[in-house]
Amino acid sequence: MIYASPLACRPEDEMVCYVFANLPYGARPMFYEPKNQNHGLPKNPFNSLVIPRPIGWISSIDSDGVFNLAPYSFFNAVCYRPPTVMFSAGASSTDDRNKDTARNVETTGEFVCNLAIWELREQMNLSSATLPPETDEIALAGLTPVGSTLVKAPRIAEAPVQLECKYVKTTLIPGWDQGDGYKVIFGEVIGVHMSDDYIVEGKFDVSKFNPLTRLGYRDYSVVREIFSISRPDD
Ligand SMILES: Cc1cc2nc3c(=O)[nH]c(=O)nc-3n(C[C@H](O)[C@H](O)[C@H](O)COP(=O)(O)O)c2cc1C
Repeated sequence: MIYASPLACRPEDEMVCYVFANLPYGARPMFYEPKNQNHGLPKNPFNSLVIPRPIGWISSIDSDGVFNLAPYSFFNAVCYRPPTVMFSAGASSTDDRNKDTARNVETTGEFVCNLAIWELREQMNLSSATLPPETDEIALAGLTPVGSTLVKAPRIAEAPVQLECKYVKTTLIPGWDQGDGYKVIFGEVIGVHMSDDYIVEGKFDVSKFNPLTRLGYRDYSVVREIFSISRPDD
């Protein structure tokens, strides 16, 4: 096994470390075990390795009718028929392990996933602030809530795509630390809103609206370059 820093080498790896020791830093393959965090870097690089991640900008409503909005980048589409998405909500505070989004979705059985775009990057970021459940982040970010067709959760008018979702299930992933964990929440997409402005020759043209994606650290990327490859079976 090969570690980031020679200091991280174990005795049984001595030969491998020796072999790579003379290579320039960038040419040395690195191996680390996440549980040991022995990457030798100032920050955990994991988020920078699984990239780019789509951002599920999730709007929901609580049982008192208060709107909620927050971005989730441990998010993706996971099934096609029925179209299904998932997001992973980490533990929040020691008093309440739920994030507001997770609580709302599990309580009401519904949510909307809005597509974040470059023009809405500041509002998206603002909506990630840790705030009490009674705060409406849609209003806070100066965005416009609009009624959904099939669910009570609001949609974000400014987002070019909004997916109305019905809660399917939660899978709990235990964290490393006592009491920590993740709620991986699955939802079936039961209604799709997409702006007509971006339908070009029968296709939804993503090159027209700068979808935002998440990288590691505080970095993001924008989808701007698109190319096509036919599959061998086409
Ligand atoms: C781009 C971005 C992506 C995020 N992704 C996640 C995520 O996947 N899981 C998570 O638990 N928190 C994530 N966060 C942090 C939440 O948005 C933040 O904790 C928020 O306050 C949760 O709001 P809520 O309690 O209203 O659901 C992310 C923040 C940003 C800015």
